Amino acid sequence: MSPHPPRERPRPAFAGWIAAGVASLAVSTACRGDAPPPGVTDVVIESPREHHVREGFVQLVPPVHLPSSSPDRDQVEIWVKVPQGSTIALALDDAGRPTLEFPPGTLADRVEWMGKGDMRRIVDIRGTRIEADGSQTFYVYRPSAPDPRAPLFGLEWARGDASVQEAATEHLVARVAAHPPVAQMPAARREAVLEGVRVRNGCAACHPLSRPENQAPRQHGLVDRGTDRSGFFTPQTVLWDEVPLEAYGAHDRSWHDPSIEVRCGGEIVAAPEGEVPRRCSDGTIARGRMRWDVAEPAARAHRAAVCDGRRWLAAHMTQADGAKLSSALRPCEKI
Ligand code: HEC
Repeated sequence: MSPHPPRERPRPAFAGWIAAGVASLAVSTACRGDAPPPGVTDVVIESPREHHVREGFVQLVPPVHLPSSSPDRDQVEIWVKVPQGSTIALALDDAGRPTLEFPPGTLADRVEWMGKGDMRRIVDIRGTRIEADGSQTFYVYRPSAPDPRAPLFGLEWARGDASVQEAATEHLVARVAAHPPVAQMPAARREAVLEGVRVRNGCAACHPLSRPENQAPRQHGLVDRGTDRSGFFTPQTVLWDEVPLEAYGAHDRSWHDPSIEVRCGGEIVAAPEGEVPRRCSDGTIARGRMRWDVAEPAARAHRAAVCDGRRWLAAHMTQADGAKLSSALRPCEKI
């Protein structure tokens, strides 16, 4: 069985161009940049807006907000897809919480949006595909133009080979540099943006497998949450009520959301007005805890989304593993 049968893989950019028949401006823009180096494949998503729903991914919503570029909406979403009939393995981490290992054929995407309403558009997708032998392929997509319907150009490469990783990063940088808005930027600004692209392309360093949670800031890395056995941060936290709150990113909406308690050293703390500190007053890591007793419609909708994720994860496990999630699923019965 092929590891990812149900999904139509994004077509290589060049094939997309040919298939379009005429070299429409949008698609030829998606092809801009040099040919990929060995070990790196160019890919394209022609129609990004409904991509994940259309391809059968499900969104996993964690109990606390992910850091966001916007103070009033979550601009980062996590979408996953596993092959039909495959199972996600369940284990317990050092703290006794459920942790996960995803099967071959899994696709996991971090999708970052910008803007709102009709102009809301995907500005970055980074994702991982788990291959038949358990190895991982990384991929990244970026917009070819500011129009929300414009194709995303992308590339993919195997995790684990430092020279391929470096070649992929430089290829991405060249392609981002060839597209708007970076292509039109003054040199100094362009260099700063491209340096950011390089830093954010160091996927494996941020996503080691089974990385423990930070007990103190930067103990194991910039991210305070730990990873599961597949190197993912978010999916396992869908099964927990309490999650460390991060200090990076422009905003963390958890601090001002009445359906989330922020705790420092076990005590509930109130967020100050205006800009929040992101850390406890003694510099330790704050934790966010989802409240099950808040009746506001937004809180109910949030809990329903978290519970959908819990049920989806349990439904993609062996019966024995799914049964071990009874305490995570119990509060969802009332929803
Ligand atoms: C600075 C650390 C960092 C770097 C670099 C990074 N990631 Fe992530 N990634 C995260 C964090 C943290 C999340 C969880 C979502 C969030 O908080 O934005 C995430 C989410 C993801 C997810 C969704 C599953 C999960 O872990 O929640 C995938 C897949 C992913 N990243 C792949 C990649 C790939 C591929 C690259 C390289 C192109 C990459 N990441 C680079 C930190 C990083």
